[in-house]
Amino acid sequence: MEISLHILDIMHNSIVAGAALVELTVIEDTKKDILSFTIKDNGKGMSKEMVEAVYSPFTTGRTTRKVGLGIPLLKQAAEAADGSIKITSELGVGTELFAQFTHSHIDRQPLGDMAGTMHQLITAFEDIDFLYRHSINGKEFLVDTREIKNILGGVSLKENEVSLWLLNYLTEGEAEISD
Ligand SMILES: Nc1ncnc2c1ncn2[C@@H]1O[C@H](COP(=O)(O)OP(=O)(O)OP(=O)(O)O)[C@@H](O)[C@H]1O
Ligand SMILES: [Mg+2]
Repeated sequence: MEISLHILDIMHNSIVAGAALVELTVIEDTKKDILSFTIKDNGKGMSKEMVEAVYSPFTTGRTTRKVGLGIPLLKQAAEAADGSIKITSELGVGTELFAQFTHSHIDRQPLGDMAGTMHQLITAFEDIDFLYRHSINGKEFLVDTREIKNILGGVSLKENEVSLWLLNYLTEGEAEISD
């Protein structure tokens, strides 16, 4: 498993919760030896009891099966790399999930394909806005779909040329901060 797949899962939770805006910040700091990400949404939020219960696989809003694995799997992955996760939420306001890993830990999963992950989310959920930031040792790449949609003026992100442009933009942005 890769961290980008956990990110996809957690962002999917935000989408299911009815968020209009999902903000993802990935920070890599090799000096502090930390890889962390924060996912903040303005979805329906969770009660205090739900937040406490959500670390367990037996807590789910799913109806098709009785276990929810997104959060427990991420928790396990973070702890395997000497890290942790923390969820804060308020009903009717939104949810924030913070996950931290030791960057150099031998058991830290690779970050994976962030450009592909963001491309997938942005094109599949056109009605939702995403603010994505990724920084590596202070070098930052930022994508705000609200800005992109403004420029596109109603042209769909699913249009072949637009979709290809976006993937290219994301791939180049990732490459620029990682050299
Ligand atoms: N961002 C969020 N906003 C509101 N509720 C959330 C959020 N994230 C998780 N939840 C609640 O916590 C439950 C557990 O989430 P988790 O990702 O662990 O499992 P799941 O989404 O139910 O199933 P799976 O991820 O395996 O498809 C969700 O079903 C949902 O009720
Ligand atoms: Mg989930």
